[in-house]
Amino acid sequence: MKILVTGGTGYIGSHTVVELQSKGFEVIIVDNLSNSSAEIVDKIEKITGIRPVLEVFDLGDREKTADFFKRNSDIMGVIHFAAFKAVGESVEKPLMYYRNNLVSLMNILESMKETGVRNFVFSSSCTVYGQPDKLPVSEKAPIKTAESPYGNTKQISEEIIQDTIKTSDIHGIALRYFNPIGAHETALIGELPLGVPNNLVPFITQTAMGIRDQLKVFGDDYPTPDGTPIRDYIHVVDLAKAHVVAVNRMIQDKMKKAFEVFNLGTGKGYSVLEVIRAFEKSSGRKLNYKIVGRREGDIIQVWADPSFSNKELGWKAEKGLDEMVASAWKWEQAYRTENS
Ligand code: NAD
Ligand code: WQD
Repeated sequence: MKILVTGGTGYIGSHTVVELQSKGFEVIIVDNLSNSSAEIVDKIEKITGIRPVLEVFDLGDREKTADFFKRNSDIMGVIHFAAFKAVGESVEKPLMYYRNNLVSLMNILESMKETGVRNFVFSSSCTVYGQPDKLPVSEKAPIKTAESPYGNTKQISEEIIQDTIKTSDIHGIALRYFNPIGAHETALIGELPLGVPNNLVPFITQTAMGIRDQLKVFGDDYPTPDGTPIRDYIHVVDLAKAHVVAVNRMIQDKMKKAFEVFNLGTGKGYSVLEVIRAFEKSSGRKLNYKIVGRREGDIIQVWADPSFSNKELGWKAEKGLDEMVASAWKWEQAYRTENS
């Protein structure tokens, strides 16, 4: 049972490859290594004992993508992670984001149609909900005007997938991730942002490591209990496992509709200060942080209603915040020790 994982050397992709292999799937990764390194394949092999095939090319290249699918028309499913994901950068370089995220998606869907590959799982995001009117937010909540070109690529992508499904045999599942954090228990794979991290947890672990001087907490004047924004943080391994469930659902013809959407969150929200406290407790270190002004574009609070995913997929996030931050810290230390 061969599965194509695009972006499989990236953060969420690499954890998903591990879970797929551990359930007996044969994995082929396609990645252009624009935000990851080929050595991840060695790490995956160390964890599972199986070396996934890695083909390095840009999915924005129509011909290379078509050629890949012609050579691999026996693929049972595609999990499409490959995309650019930095919200701020997308505001600076919108066309780069629209081109990379949308053209690669269209190339894959076209090639799937041409070669009869049917099952498609897409990495979507809770960003499509913006600031929801009602919390927890369910899949039925309205899609809000996107706050950034990145967010817009996720909304447009879901539409492209739905329109394609109407005129083909392709089935699609969009998984809307909340805030993935943490790392594999072996600390062999984890989140490795290029340059200065935009996201909270890598910034925390890099600050504790001495790579960054100080964490800036963006605002403590929000209408939340401690004044800092609230998010639904989910362990990346829990997230990865949901992809295996989604692929099996498609292969085993268990889908209720040709296009389905699922929230991937824990259902519990934590504030920025709560994440910092959890990190300090599990690492035994005091974190150097300072409250500064709000970051533009940040929403106040969001957490998932995961009940539809729990029921329909038979999947539930199992790991709590302490385990998430502890695994992120273990990974940061292991990575820096290996690369010092
Ligand atoms: P990542 O950057 O670690 O992984 C993405 C991978 O895709 C990278 O290895 C990159 O080299 C590759 N890639 C990018 N464009 C490509 C192209 N044109 N051709 C081939 N390879 C290409 O990101 P991640 O955090 O693992 O995110 C994976 C997916 O999940 C993305 O679609 C992202 O938008 C989505 N997502 C991420 C988060 C998050 O917080 N990390 C939240 C919601 C959704
Ligand atoms: C979390 C909280 C910050 C950094 C982003 C994308 C979203 C999704 C997940 C892909 C916020 C605060 C952060 C720092 C801080 N990605 N923070 N100091 O913004 O919820 O979501 O990643 O789809 O689309 O927007 O995640 O980790 O950046 O921030 O105070 O140095 O931490 O203000 O409240 P966010 P994040």
